[in-house]
Amino acid sequence: MEWITITVDEKKRQVPANLSILEACRESHIQIPTLCHDPELTDSGACRLCMVEVEGARGLVASCSTKVQKGMVIRTNTPEVREARRTILELMIANHDIDCLTCEKMGNCELAQYAYEYGVKKDVFQGQKREDEIDDSNPFILRDLNKCILCGKCVRACSEIQVNNVLGYVNRGFESRVGPAFNLPYGKSECVFCGTCLAVCPVGALTEKKMIAGGRPWELKKVRTTCPFCGTGCGFD
Ligand code: FES
Repeated sequence: MEWITITVDEKKRQVPANLSILEACRESHIQIPTLCHDPELTDSGACRLCMVEVEGARGLVASCSTKVQKGMVIRTNTPEVREARRTILELMIANHDIDCLTCEKMGNCELAQYAYEYGVKKDVFQGQKREDEIDDSNPFILRDLNKCILCGKCVRACSEIQVNNVLGYVNRGFESRVGPAFNLPYGKSECVFCGTCLAVCPVGALTEKKMIAGGRPWELKKVRTTCPFCGTGCGFD
């Protein structure tokens, strides 16, 4: 394996040449926020939260989808980087239901966690919000698109892990949604309710109905198991 030297936050580091900036930083214990990255999935660069400064680059770059290069000089936490991340979070929240107190994802929501970390306290971009009906059409998963941040993790998990290819993007611009073709309800699609999409959703857009019957995320214990429904044994927990 080829190793190269890069500079991150003013310190020289030796990293494997095939890593993304995000992976290289994480290997060096430097934390960069992400909402669409998952080590089990290919990167799509959808959320832009992982932006960093790279000397010589025009503008900030998405660290999850940019490979390291020999001699690269990276800054992960400058005032400009933090300001850009805060604006991204504000834009996400501008079109997101803020019923955090009663949201099933409370205490386990990555968007809420980053909003706290970056000091996003109010809805600064006020305007039109989605008003989609909650999809209650299948017995296991509740889908609330008013909380979806279009990170696409569920789409990639459905195709890359479950190889079911049920989920995709529909429409464009403000009307963009993630879901089965033609935005059919889950219950009317080819979804096998494996729960893989549920496991990767960083916000409260996909929640397990069982939890709604009682139980906050911090009261539940994760166990590795094979789901009795599809029996595929994807091993995803
Ligand atoms: Fe890099 Fe979302 S984590 S763009």
